[in-house]
Amino acid sequence: MKIIGVSASARKNKSTHFLLTQCLEAVRVVSGNRIATELIDLAPLKINGCIACDACKKKGVMCSQRDDFQTLIPKLAEPAVAGIVLATPVYMGSMTSQAKAFLDRTVLFRRNGFRLKNRLGGAIAVGGSRNGGQELTIQGVHAAMMIHGMIIVGDGAHFGGAAWSNHPDGYQGDDEGIDSAKDLGRSMAEIARMMAT
Ligand SMILES: Cc1cc2nc3c(=O)[nH]c(=O)nc-3n(C[C@H](O)[C@H](O)[C@H](O)COP(=O)(O)O)c2cc1C
Repeated sequence: MKIIGVSASARKNKSTHFLLTQCLEAVRVVSGNRIATELIDLAPLKINGCIACDACKKKGVMCSQRDDFQTLIPKLAEPAVAGIVLATPVYMGSMTSQAKAFLDRTVLFRRNGFRLKNRLGGAIAVGGSRNGGQELTIQGVHAAMMIHGMIIVGDGAHFGGAAWSNHPDGYQGDDEGIDSAKDLGRSMAEIARMMAT
């Protein structure tokens, strides 16, 4: 069993990546390493928006665009994938264009038998402001996951991972935000284990 984390920050190894690593570490710890994790970092990848060519409607699980999304199709399609956590910075009160392009391109799974249906979905949003749109951003990610028929998982009490990168102690000092990301990982692991039994 595996949970995939997708970092949709424009920047490598910054706050979004950090929060996602905290979440995925919690998955491994809570599951006693019975659930594997993989972090896909979109920052170095080139993923265009969907161009609505409808090739995936006619030709199966494939995409006509020859960009880096091609490398992600087999990873996301693996039967072992129990869930996906998408982590994104808040840009203008919403998810990044990298996150949206990624989610739009996953439509090929929906169009070919709803292949992400009943997999777990969670979200992390990191804003520069304390209340800069984190929860709204998480809900936007959840909306796309629901279009797939995925099962939405929060942090056990709230929407998911919500963090503040400009915390006075730096993003690594935002204990509340870090705890929310870890709690999301814990919930993902617990529910994945329940579903497997
Ligand atoms: C174009 C742009 C728009 C942004 N809009 C918001 C916003 O609406 N709300 C907010 O809290 N932070 C906003 N930010 C700040 C980022 O969310 C914040 O710096 C975040 O930590 C970046 O993630 P990273 O460290 O992974 O790059 C914006 C940053 C950029 C570059």
